[in-house]
Amino acid sequence: MKYSKYSAVIIGSGIAGLYAALKIEQQINLPDGILIVTKSKFGESNSLYAQGGIVGVMKENKADSTASHISDTIKAGAGLSEFNTVKYISEHSDAVIKDLLKFGVEFDRDENNNICFTKEAAHSVRRILHCGGDATGRMIEQALCQKVQENENIDIYEQTSAVELIVNSKNECRGVIVFNDETQEYETIYSSAVILATGGVGQLYKYTTNPSGATGDGVALAYRAGAVMQDMEFVQFHPTALAIDGEENRFLISEAVRGEGAKLCDADGVEFMAKYDERKELAPRDIVTRANFNEMIEHGVDNVYLNASCIESSKLFKRFPTISKKCMENGIDISHDFIPVAPAAHYFMGGIKTNLNGETSLKGLYAIGETASTGLHGGNRLASNSLLECVVCAYSAAQYLKSIELKTPKQIDEDIKSLIDKYSDEDVILDEIDIPSLKKKLQEIMWNNVGIFRNEKTLSEAIEQIRMLKSEFPRIFKCLSREEYEFKNMLTVSLLIAYCGLLRKESRGAHYRTDYPNMKEEAVHSFITREEGVPDFVK
Ligand code: FAD
Ligand code: SIN
Repeated sequence: MKYSKYSAVIIGSGIAGLYAALKIEQQINLPDGILIVTKSKFGESNSLYAQGGIVGVMKENKADSTASHISDTIKAGAGLSEFNTVKYISEHSDAVIKDLLKFGVEFDRDENNNICFTKEAAHSVRRILHCGGDATGRMIEQALCQKVQENENIDIYEQTSAVELIVNSKNECRGVIVFNDETQEYETIYSSAVILATGGVGQLYKYTTNPSGATGDGVALAYRAGAVMQDMEFVQFHPTALAIDGEENRFLISEAVRGEGAKLCDADGVEFMAKYDERKELAPRDIVTRANFNEMIEHGVDNVYLNASCIESSKLFKRFPTISKKCMENGIDISHDFIPVAPAAHYFMGGIKTNLNGETSLKGLYAIGETASTGLHGGNRLASNSLLECVVCAYSAAQYLKSIELKTPKQIDEDIKSLIDKYSDEDVILDEIDIPSLKKKLQEIMWNNVGIFRNEKTLSEAIEQIRMLKSEFPRIFKCLSREEYEFKNMLTVSLLIAYCGLLRKESRGAHYRTDYPNMKEEAVHSFITREEGVPDFVK
C-alpha cells in the first residue's frame, strides 16, 4: 500500500475542516504540510446547504450580549449544555466572524452598510448573520474553499474516504487509512494530528435535510478506534423540511422564514402552535417538531403547512431567494401559496466527546464540527449555533496544536502493521451486496423506531432489526466501494443511537420517550465506548 506523511490531516471539507486547515496553516510551522481528505467533490458537505445563518454576538449589536446568548443556548439545551463551553463559544463569536470577513465572507448588509441580523426560534434577540439571503453555507464554503485552494501548504484528496484510523498499542492515533473510490486504491497517511470534521448523520433516516454524505463516518471511525462517544441518543429533527421527496433528502425551509413572521397551519389555514407553546412558531426546535408531527398523526396527513404570505412579497423574495426558487420549481409561490412542510432528521447533538480544543479521548485524534459533541448544544441545538461551533472549535483546535510537536511519527508497531495488512490484502474476494436496498431498510427502521417519538418497544425492535441487517452485510474491514464503507458506518452509528436511546429512560430535548414522557431532575450525559459496546443480550 502507498503511504505518505503530513503534519496534520483533516478529514472533511465542510466549514469546520476548511477553517481548521486555514487556521493551522496560518499559525503553525508545518514541516510536512496539511492534507484535507474529502470523500466526494471538494466542498460538498452539510455546510454547503446551510440556510438561516451563523450566530454572532457582535460588539456593534447593542441589543445583544453574550449573557443573553448563553442563556438562550442553555435554555434550549434542556439541561445538558455545558456552561463553560457555551460561554467560550459565545465569547469567541465576535472574533471568528471578523476573521471570516477577512477570509472574504460577505455577510448581508443594510443600505447603511451595517451587517443585518435575523432571528430564529428561541433566540431572544436578532443575532444571526446571513449571506445571499438564505445561502449562508454556500457563501462561507465558497470563500473558504477558494482560500484553501490558493494555499500551497494544503493538499487536497477528493473522492477519497477515510476508512480506518491507525491506532498503536498505546492507544494513540497515528494516522488514517484512506480509500480512493475512483482508482480503488488505498493509502496509509501517517500524522500525529488527525482531525475528524466529517459532519452529521442525517442519512440514517428516511426523511432528512442532509445530503447523501451525512452517514456518520467520523463517529463510527472514532468509535471503532476506541474513543468515547457522548449523548448518542440526541438527534435533532427540523420541523419544516419541504414535504416533497428529493432524490436523497428533503429541501429545508429555513427557520428564518418563521423568524420573519411565517405561521404554521393546517390545510384550511388554521394555526395550531398556540396549543403547544406560548412562543408559538418560535418555540425551541424540538417543541415545534413534535407539534408538527403530532398534528400530522392526529389528522392522518403527511404534512402541515407554512404560510409566509403575511410577509411582504418583495421582502420575501429578496430575503429567501433559494427557498422561493426551489418552491417555485415545485409550483409553489411562497408569497401566496401554503408551503407543505414536515419534520426531517437535521442535526446530531451527540457524537465524539471532545473538549474545546477538539481533543478526543485518544491522543492524536481530534474532532470538530457536527461530528464532535462538545456540550454546546445539550439535548437540543439552538438554530445557527452549529456553524458558530464549527469555526470557534476549528480555531481553538488550531491554537492548541501550536503547543504540540507536529512531527510525523515513523514507528509502526504490531497493532498498526496488522491493521494495514487487512487493507493491503489483495486476495480478499468480496461478493457484491445490494447496498441501496439495505440502506433503504435501515432508514425506514430508524425513522419508524428511533425517530421523533420512541419507546422501549420501538427501540428494542430497532436494535434487533439492525442486527439482522448487519448479518446481511458480512464486512468487517475491507469493503468494495465508498457506498459500502458508508453503510458499514451507518449500521454502527444507528445501533449506538438506538441503544443509547433505550438506556435514557426520560424525555429530554430532542429525545422523546412516549413511555417516559417526563424529564428527570438531574441532567446527565451518556457515554459509550467500543469496549462496552451494545451487549448481545439487548434485543
Ligand atoms: P459538514 O459540513 O457536513 O462537512 C463534512 C465533510 O466531511 C464533507 O466534506 C464530507 O464529504 C466529509 N466526509 C464525511 N465522511 C468522510 C470520510 N469518511 N472520508 C472523507 N471525507 C468525509 N447550521 C447553522 O448553524 N446554521 C444554518 O443555517 C444551518 N442550516 C442548515 C441547513 C441544512 C439544509 C443542513 C443540512 C444543515 C444546516 N445547519 C445549519 C447545520 C450545519 O450546516 C452543519 O452542522 C455544519 O455545516 C456541519 O459542518 P461540518 O464542517 O462539521 O460538517
Ligand atoms: C435553518 O435555517 O432553519 C437551519 C438553521 C440551523 O439548523 O441552525
